[in-house]
Amino acid sequence: MRAVICRDYGGPELLEIGMLPDPVPTNGEVLIRVHASSINFPDALNIQGRYQVKRPLPFVAGSEVAGVIEAIGPDVSSIAVGDRVAAVTQVGGFAEKAIAAASAAIKLPDDIPFEFAATFSVTYGTAYLGLVEQAKLRAGETLLVLGAAGGVGIAAIEIAKAMGATVIAAASSPEKRAAASAAGADHLIGYDDIKDQTRALTGGLGANVVFDPVGDRFAEPALRAMGWQGRYLVIGFAAGDIPRIPLNLLLLKSGSAIGVFFGEWASRNPAAAASHAEALFDLYRRGALTAQIGGRFPLEGVPDALVQIMERRAVGKLLIEM
Ligand SMILES: NC(=O)c1ccc[n+]([C@@H]2O[C@H](COP(=O)([O-])OP(=O)(O)OC[C@H]3O[C@@H](n4cnc5c(N)ncnc54)[C@H](OP(=O)(O)O)[C@@H]3O)[C@@H](O)[C@H]2O)c1
Repeated sequence: MRAVICRDYGGPELLEIGMLPDPVPTNGEVLIRVHASSINFPDALNIQGRYQVKRPLPFVAGSEVAGVIEAIGPDVSSIAVGDRVAAVTQVGGFAEKAIAAASAAIKLPDDIPFEFAATFSVTYGTAYLGLVEQAKLRAGETLLVLGAAGGVGIAAIEIAKAMGATVIAAASSPEKRAAASAAGADHLIGYDDIKDQTRALTGGLGANVVFDPVGDRFAEPALRAMGWQGRYLVIGFAAGDIPRIPLNLLLLKSGSAIGVFFGEWASRNPAAAASHAEALFDLYRRGALTAQIGGRFPLEGVPDALVQIMERRAVGKLLIEM
């Protein structure tokens, strides 16, 4: 099979598009013939050896796929050959065939296309977990989303709008703010004076929920933009540094900071993850979720797609089509 192989940690230019033997599923695993996969920010960290879990070399990059089950491990009974699935693979997804844990593969209803399926597990899964289950965002509340034109940012906008919330989207360029607007954001702002801009848009109250996949120097102003009893969702640190937050800000707002770790949560709660997926499929059927695909690449285009993510140029989700 063709695969995108990481033999040394470093930039996308070091990746090799090569041939490997088909992987064979062992106990608890399934083999997926990949129809589409998508780029997630951690893919860029993985190839540089900078993700929380350092992947042993060599490995095939790619964390999320959709396709058809081609083979199953000896003890797998929950999924059958021929089933259409979406799966988080952690690694191995940028290849014609990928191994996933059977527990991480979600069966796809016939009306869910591979194109959406390849983009929904991580971004929509994370946004749904954070907004619905953890922050308990309610209709009529205001959500502030940072990195609003990125993968999880757009997912957060679409889910929050479907829940009846008002969305303030922060993004770094007019093009990105236009993408956030297309996803349904009510208000568009840059990162300057994020607290004052948010307060002005909320009648001085501040946002009820903040969704922050960016971190670094943007985190504290975003927390200051949060209102009384607000919930601040720690999603990621795309801007680089892990911020240190003065805890008095939470005390003064009677607020909470909530860490969201979708992959770990999903592996500990497979039944709940499957029910979130069902809810997301329903939202897709209602036209509330779109995937907002901002670029399509063949397998050979994975390095270029990763460069877009690393240079902060990507808008929406980048799709890899086999
Ligand atoms: N907690 C979880 O379970 C979970 C799940 C999925 C993703 N994540 C994390 O969420 C973050 C975003 O992931 P994503 O897939 O949405 O990535 P993405 O599509 O690349 O979006 C990230 C956004 O962050 C902003 N950004 C600010 N500084 C940046 C920089 N130096 N380099 C790149 N982007 C920068 C960019 O928006 P502006 O240019 O508008 O600032 C960009 O659109 C990542 O840190 C990822 O690891 C966490």
